[in-house]
Amino acid sequence: MLDVIKKRRSIRDYNDQEISKSDLVTLCEAGLMAPSARNQNSKAFIIIEDKNLLKQLSKISPGARVLEKANKAIAVICPDVKGLLTENMVLEDLGAACENVLLEATNLNIGSCWIGIAPNEERMTLGKKILNLNDNEFLFALISLGYPIDDSAFYFKDKIKKELIRFM
Ligand SMILES: Cc1cc2nc3c(=O)[nH]c(=O)nc-3n(C[C@H](O)[C@H](O)[C@H](O)COP(=O)(O)O)c2cc1C
Repeated sequence: MLDVIKKRRSIRDYNDQEISKSDLVTLCEAGLMAPSARNQNSKAFIIIEDKNLLKQLSKISPGARVLEKANKAIAVICPDVKGLLTENMVLEDLGAACENVLLEATNLNIGSCWIGIAPNEERMTLGKKILNLNDNEFLFALISLGYPIDDSAFYFKDKIKKELIRFM
C-alpha cells in the first residue's frame, strides 16, 4: 500500500486511451469504502463522460483547466447534506473519499488530479448548475482522470521530513 501512496502524483497530462466503465466504477467503490463520521451516508459519485460537460467544468476555476484534457472525471458529492447525522464533518468525510479514489486510480495506473471546489461558494454554485444538482446535493470536489502520457508520471516525490513526525 505504501508503494501506491508514494507514487501517487497529481497528473494533469493524459493520452487518448479510454478508461473503462468497470475501472470507473471501481474508483467510485474505493471512494465509498472511505471512513465517515458516525458512518454517515455522506458521499456519492457522478462519473462524467460527456466531453461537453468536461469542457464546461474546466472553466470553473484556473485549477480546473486540467479537465479540458481529461478522459473522464468524477464529481464527489454529498447526496443529502441536510439529512446528515454530523453535518459539520462532511468536508472530512468527502476528503477521505477523494483520497481513496486517487489511490485506487494510482493502483490502476490511471492519472488523477483533485480539483478543489468546496468551500468556495462561486465554484460550488457554478459546478452545481453545470451538473444539474438539486438543492440538497453538495458538490465537494472534481477528480480529473486519464492515462498519463508515460509511466514516469507516477514517481516518488519526497515529502517525508522527520521533524514532522513526533512521539510523545
Ligand atoms: C483540496 C485540494 C485542492 C486541489 N485543487 C487543485 C486544483 O484545483 N487544480 C489542480 O491542478 N490541482 C489541485 N490540487 C492538487 C495539488 O496541487 C497537489 O496535490 C499538490 O501540488 C501536490 O502534488 P502531488 O499531488 O503530486 O503530490 C488540489 C489538491 C487538494 C488536496
